[in-house]
Amino acid sequence: MKKINTRYIQNAKLNSEKIAALTAYDYPTAKLIDEAGIEMIIVGDSLANVVLGYDDTNKISMNEMLIFTSAVSRAVQRAMIVCDMPFMSYQKSIESAMENIGNAIKSGANAVKIEGSGEYIESVIKRCSEIGIPVVAHIGFTPQSINAIGGHYIQGKTYDATVELLEKAKRLEASGAFAIVLELMPEECAKYITENLSIPTISCGAGHYCDGQVLVSDDVFGKFTGRKPTFARRYGDMQSLITECAKQYISDVKSGDFPSESETFHLEEKELKLLNIH
Ligand code: KIV
Repeated sequence: MKKINTRYIQNAKLNSEKIAALTAYDYPTAKLIDEAGIEMIIVGDSLANVVLGYDDTNKISMNEMLIFTSAVSRAVQRAMIVCDMPFMSYQKSIESAMENIGNAIKSGANAVKIEGSGEYIESVIKRCSEIGIPVVAHIGFTPQSINAIGGHYIQGKTYDATVELLEKAKRLEASGAFAIVLELMPEECAKYITENLSIPTISCGAGHYCDGQVLVSDDVFGKFTGRKPTFARRYGDMQSLITECAKQYISDVKSGDFPSESETFHLEEKELKLLNIH
């Protein structure tokens, strides 16, 4: 099976084919969505909230991200795996950014995602592209800057803000990013950016004009027990399924219905005789 690469992602934009991306953090989920045909799997730092129970994505460490990235990489055959670089893993210095980004690639990621814009971020992207590490940029609402932004506010709500976002996106593209996530913005703003970039844009709450879409898989499967963002679509109800299965199991254990004969091992007759059990 041919692995999806940056050329595939970039050709999708050229051919006006939408890119379908989801997050995944564990082996079974990654395996199932890869087999279902997802093209890009982002091991998002949303892992902090949806899997590890932190109240804030900024609390996740690089080491934690690496554990989950390598689990995903062991499961995936076709999709491109993008490791979302966590808070302060790339902001301190180019040296420490490159060390952490290198470890993400060594753990099985095919690309990394970094949030933000400006000279420093551009220099990290330039360095990555010089040494052949593909980078997905990320602008609009950038969760790692939640403390500065002050909340989950929609970005790019005016003409000036839209022009400014395009300017940032163009600089990130010029630095070598091969794709860019646009998060939480009006779709007209995302359309303007998408039409003026040659790299694909991936929407995360930025409407349907982007070249692709990404959602947190736990929202899509109805597994995350916290609040679902309004822009996410729930396709299943794993919460109810898990609760139902757990309740049924508890009841079967209490009633003695579990384990059944087919779920039980037995000693051979001669051993039973020695133990004097009938
Ligand atoms: O952390 C995350 O899950 C993300 C994406 C959904 C873009 O950054």
